[in-house]
Amino acid sequence: MNLLSKKAMCNSHGQDSSYFLGWEEYEKNPYDEIRNPKGIIQMGLAENQLSFDLLESWLTQNPDAAAFKRNGDSIFRELALFQDYHGLPAFKDALVQFMSEIRLNKVSFDSNKLVLTAGATSANETLMFCLADPGHAFLLPTPYYPGFDRDLKWRTGAEIVPIQCTSSNGFRITESALEEAYKEAERRNLRVKGVLVTNPSNPLGTTLTKKELQLLLTFVSTKQIHLISDEIYSGTVFNSPKFVSVMEVLIENNYMYTDVWDRVHIVYSLSKDLGLPGFRVGAIYSNDDRVVSAATKMSSFGLISSQTQYLLSALLSDKKFTKNYVSENQKRLKKRHEMLVGGLKQIGIRCLESNAGLFCWVDIRHLLSSNTFDGEMEPWKKIVFEVGLNISPGSSCHCTEPGWFRACFANMSEDTLNIAIQRLKAFVDSRVNNKDDIQNQQRSNKKKSFSKWVFRLSFNERQRER
Ligand SMILES: Cc1ncc(COP(=O)(O)O)c(C=O)c1O
Repeated sequence: MNLLSKKAMCNSHGQDSSYFLGWEEYEKNPYDEIRNPKGIIQMGLAENQLSFDLLESWLTQNPDAAAFKRNGDSIFRELALFQDYHGLPAFKDALVQFMSEIRLNKVSFDSNKLVLTAGATSANETLMFCLADPGHAFLLPTPYYPGFDRDLKWRTGAEIVPIQCTSSNGFRITESALEEAYKEAERRNLRVKGVLVTNPSNPLGTTLTKKELQLLLTFVSTKQIHLISDEIYSGTVFNSPKFVSVMEVLIENNYMYTDVWDRVHIVYSLSKDLGLPGFRVGAIYSNDDRVVSAATKMSSFGLISSQTQYLLSALLSDKKFTKNYVSENQKRLKKRHEMLVGGLKQIGIRCLESNAGLFCWVDIRHLLSSNTFDGEMEPWKKIVFEVGLNISPGSSCHCTEPGWFRACFANMSEDTLNIAIQRLKAFVDSRVNNKDDIQNQQRSNKKKSFSKWVFRLSFNERQRER
């Protein structure tokens, strides 16, 4: 007899996606330069470890912030008792100013419209809870962050309908793709409540153009639906074109006093821009008072601890620090990005041109034994188990074309990244030198069924989308 709830037991969490399975393999055999040099290098984790030294030196210079002290006096009791789910006003003020700074002060944010959450994960789920009932759908451009299956669908009962984007135009969002997704939702008897985009995109590492943002605003205006813009990577834009927030386009296009204004919501977090995913600091920004009020009530389920808020309000209020941090961090990301893109180019692998994020969208279509999602799993398995790299297959990001992979570059040292590139080179050389091997593999794949979990993810996921 099953004593657990249907929700706890159902599969919509997405845990059996290759995205998470790659992590599991990494956990069993993690690379370490000294202790496990043959282990798996984690390239499937969008973490930013490039600027920890800047944060650590700020902490050394500002010991009060992390020691429950204000002007040398202990505020331990104040922080220990603080329970208000509206958040510390000083922290909210500092956070909205930081958000403006990242947007080059082209837009300002009102801290009364901000709801604090335990990371963007909680922010996205909370928004979904506020905007959609079970059976309602949000349209998401593909490829998208694999965690959205869990965050948007699992506990809320909402559905995701993909907006199919392809490499033919660099995975840009088009009007026809939006309309097609809308129709697909209708065919599935789902009421569309909105569109959710990540800007900059995870996994593409590209920023949305003004034209795309205008198109999205026109679409949500016509259909009378919401637009959620997850801008968690907004501070990672290291190359032109610069980041344009949906908020900027709303203002420029005079949406301020229209109903659309209230239907656009921004998600933010310090997990990527400050590299603090462990601190669990996220936020929803909405112009709709009702959404702010409902989300504030819900935020009880995922508050940010008061000690974290206190520490970060001190850090983010130090304008000299934040200015230097943001620009230095972007320089470091740019260097890493060049290292990976350049290294891959030398071994005949191209990446989608990108200007942001902590990863590259890598094209290995030419190395597939067949242009199918099973054909994508075959090299992926080799890359994880034999080459020793955990990269994320495009199918786990619901990409419509087999052969794309996301490879992260900011969660490791330069030396480790170089080793990862060398390992890939050996893999590509062996593959190119042995084309027969690919064909043999193709034949044997047909005979042998894939192990259960690989089959589950490559087949079921695609079927569900069709
Ligand atoms: C687009 C996007 N949204 C949300 C999240 C979740 O972030 P957080 O750690 O703030 O919950 C991630 C993490 O990778 C992400 O890439």
